Amino acid sequence: MKLLIFAVFLLVTLFQVKCQTDKQKELLAQHYKQCVEQTHVDQNVLQQARAGNFTDDPKLKDHILCITKKIGFQDEAGHLQKEVIQKKLKEAVKGNEDQTKKLMEACAITNQDPKLQAFNAFKCIHHKAKINLL
Ligand SMILES: *[C@@H]1O[C@H](CO)[C@@H](O)[C@H](O)[C@H]1NC(C)=O
Repeated sequence: MKLLIFAVFLLVTLFQVKCQTDKQKELLAQHYKQCVEQTHVDQNVLQQARAGNFTDDPKLKDHILCITKKIGFQDEAGHLQKEVIQKKLKEAVKGNEDQTKKLMEACAITNQDPKLQAFNAFKCIHHKAKINLL
């Protein structure tokens, strides 16, 4: 009986986790679509960036800025939201505090130009940890 309760509990938990990641993915896909519509970023340039080749392309920078705002890495005024970034990074490195800290120190760098700030952060995160946020 105990085992059965445990099994049910486990299933429910797994189901909830799956729904959450599905929701997140769906949300990310929506953001992505809206940003592409807004910036008209070249699909090829975007593919390259996903693979780690961040081209110096104004539309790519617009697109990355658009995404950072939607996922809450920067506010409308362009200020870095370090708590949000940290949370996201920590998830991406599966809770590794040490790596999260290093990534924050290396990549969450304030820049007067919000576009460059976003672009550099994404590029840095990709290069250092192979985390793709695009
Ligand atoms: C990087 O992407 C740009 C733009 O798509 C492309 O012209 C360039 O050849 C790529 N560089 C590498 C090393 O793949």
